[in-house]
Amino acid sequence: MIMDDTTIVPVPATAKADASCTAEQYRTAYARSLDESEAFWLSQAGRIDWMKKPTVAGNWKFAPKVDIKWFEDGQLNACWNCVDRHAIATPDRMAIISEPDDPDAAVRRIDYRTLKSDVARFANVLKEMGVSRGDRVTIYMPMIAEAVYAMLACARIGAVHSVVFGGFSPEALRGRIEGCDSRFVITADAGRRGGKSIALKANVDAALDGGPSADAVLVVRVTGEPVTMTPGRDRWYHEALESVDDDCPCAPMNAEDPLFILYTSGSTGKPKGVVHTTGGYMVWTASTFAHAFDYREDDLFFCTADVGWITGHSYVAYGPLANGATQLIFEGVPNHPDESRFWQIVEKHKVSILYTAPTAIRALMREGDAPVTKHDRSSLRILGTVGEPINPEAWRWYHRVVGDGQVPVVDTWWQTETGGIMLTTLPGAHDMKPGWAGLPMFGVKPLIVDNDGRPLDGEAEGNLCISESWPGQARSVYGDHARFHQTYFSTYEGLYFTGDGAKRDADGYYRITGRVDDVINVSGHRMGTAEVESALVLHGDVAEAAVVGYPHDIKGQGIYCYVTPNAGVAMTSELEAELRAHVRKEIGPVATPDHIHLTAALPKTRSGKIMRRILRKIAGGESDSLGDTSTLADPNVVDALIAGCKA
Ligand code: PRX
Repeated sequence: MIMDDTTIVPVPATAKADASCTAEQYRTAYARSLDESEAFWLSQAGRIDWMKKPTVAGNWKFAPKVDIKWFEDGQLNACWNCVDRHAIATPDRMAIISEPDDPDAAVRRIDYRTLKSDVARFANVLKEMGVSRGDRVTIYMPMIAEAVYAMLACARIGAVHSVVFGGFSPEALRGRIEGCDSRFVITADAGRRGGKSIALKANVDAALDGGPSADAVLVVRVTGEPVTMTPGRDRWYHEALESVDDDCPCAPMNAEDPLFILYTSGSTGKPKGVVHTTGGYMVWTASTFAHAFDYREDDLFFCTADVGWITGHSYVAYGPLANGATQLIFEGVPNHPDESRFWQIVEKHKVSILYTAPTAIRALMREGDAPVTKHDRSSLRILGTVGEPINPEAWRWYHRVVGDGQVPVVDTWWQTETGGIMLTTLPGAHDMKPGWAGLPMFGVKPLIVDNDGRPLDGEAEGNLCISESWPGQARSVYGDHARFHQTYFSTYEGLYFTGDGAKRDADGYYRITGRVDDVINVSGHRMGTAEVESALVLHGDVAEAAVVGYPHDIKGQGIYCYVTPNAGVAMTSELEAELRAHVRKEIGPVATPDHIHLTAALPKTRSGKIMRRILRKIAGGESDSLGDTSTLADPNVVDALIAGCKA
C-alpha cells in the first residue's frame, strides 16, 4: 500500500459555502483554546447540563507531576445529558434507529421520550439485581439498542460499565470480568451478524464456569434460541421489566467519578482497563462530535463501530446522544447479504454523516463501484474514517465514489486513551490530503519528538506525543495507576506518548505512520503481539512464539506468528491449523492468526533477545533490507526463515 501522498484535495465549493466554521475561525478558536484554556473549556462545559456547575476547568500540565483532573468541582450525570434533557426538549425526535442484520426484518425507531422510559426501566432492573453506585458491570452484547440502554442505565445509577466486544472468547471475557472485579454481567441469548448466530450467553456461561462468580447475569432475548439459565444467578430482561417502572432518578456524579472501563491492548502484559471519568469525557465527546462532523439538528449520523470499542462508546453511545442527535445503529456487517449493504442503508434511511473504518472501505472498494453507485447517496454530507491509517487509494475511492467527489472526508485520529477525536480536518473548513489526518482539535497540543525525546519543529517525522491534557483523556488503568504512568508518561518526561509514529508537513497537517511499539492494528482492532504470544505458548506443543504485524491489503495489518514447537513435535499443517484455532479460543475470532510459521529456531542476539525487527521485515516481504544482522547468535536462522516465509 502506498502511503505517501502529498496531493491536496480542496474542499468542495458547496461544502465550503455550507460549513459552520471557516479555516480562519478554526485558527482563532484553536489559538484561544490554548491561550485562554480556562475560559475556553469552561465555555465548552456549557454544552452539557451540570447539577453543580464547575468553577474550574482543568489541571492540564503533565509536569511536575501527572495529576489529570477536569471540571473537578462540577457534578453531573452522563445519562441525563444523553437522554433526559432531550426527552424534555425534543421528546418526539428520533434518538436511535436500529437497522437489523436481516434487511427484511423490522427497523426499530426509538424517540427520546421512549429512550428515557426504556433506559430508566433498565436502570431499575439493574438496581433490583443489586447493582449500586461504583459497581463494575460487564456488558457483552450485540449491536442492538439494549447495548446502548445498558451503558446509559449504568451511567444513570453511577455504576461503571465495562463493555467487552462480542468477538472476544470466553477466556478473554473472563479475564476482563476478573480484571475489574465485576459481579454483574449483561448479555443476550445470542447475537446476529452476517446471517450467523453468535452464542453470547453460552460464552458468558463458559467464562463464569469455574472462574469468577457473578452475583447476577441479565439476559436480553434477541434470537430466541435455547440457552441455559442458572437459577438464582440468571434473569431474563423481559421478565425483569415486568416488575419495574420508569421512574429512576439520575445519580449526581462528581466530574472525576469513573464513567467506564474499557480494556485495550498494549505492548506488554494483559490488556489494560482504561478508566474514563464523567465530566471531562462528556464535554470532550459532546464537543468533538459537534465540531468534527459539523453536526446539525437534521442530520442522521451512522457510526458503524461496535459498542465494544472506544468508537462505539464516544460516537455511538455518548457523543451523538449528548448532542440530542438522531443516529442509526446497525446490527450486521458491511457485506451481508451483499456488499451493497452500507449503501442500501444510506439510501433507505437518508444517512447524512457516515463514520466507518479504512478496513471496511478497502474491503468494499475491492467489490468495485457498482454496489455503491446503484444506491442513492445524495443524503450524504460528511464521510468519516477512524481506527487505522487510511491508504490514499482507499481515501480517494471513498471520496470519489461514495461521496461523488462532493462530500468532505474527515480522517479522525484518536485512541481509546484520548476518549475522542484529537486530529482531523474540519469539514468544509479545511482542504484535505489523502492519508493525512489533519490538524489538532481545539485544546490539543501535539508534539513530534525524536527517539531521545527532543521536540522537532516544522516539517518533521518522529514519535507522536501530546504535551498538555485535554478533557477526554483517560485518567488511569483500573487497579494499577502505576501502570498508567509507566505506559504513557515514562517514555518521554512530561509528555503523553501515544505509541504512534507521525509526520507533520509544512501546513501543520499530521499523518499517522502507524504504531511504533509492539501493538498491531488488525482491521482497526488493536492487538498486543504479546497477548497473541502468551496465548500461543499456553499450547502444550509450543516452546516459543514471536508475533509481528505485516501489511495486509484489507485488514491494514495481518497477524504473523513465528512458532518454535517443543522438541520432537512434528511441524505439520495440522499443527498450524490447531494453533490458529487455539488462539481463536484463547482470545477470540478477532485475533485469528493469518499465518503460523513453524520454525526450528528464532533469530536471537547472543544475549538471547529475539530480534523482532528482522521478523517484521521477513513477514513484510522486505528480506532484502534486513539491516545489521551481525549481532545474531546464528545468522543461518534468518535464511531458513526467509525460505519458509508465508506472507
Ligand atoms: O495507531 C492509531 C490507530 O489506532 C490506534 C488506537 O486504537 P484504539 O485505541 O483501538 O482506538 C481506535 C479508534 C479511535 C492509534 O494509536 N488510529 C486510530 N485512528 C487513526 C489511526 N491511525 C491512523 N489514522 C487514524 N485516523
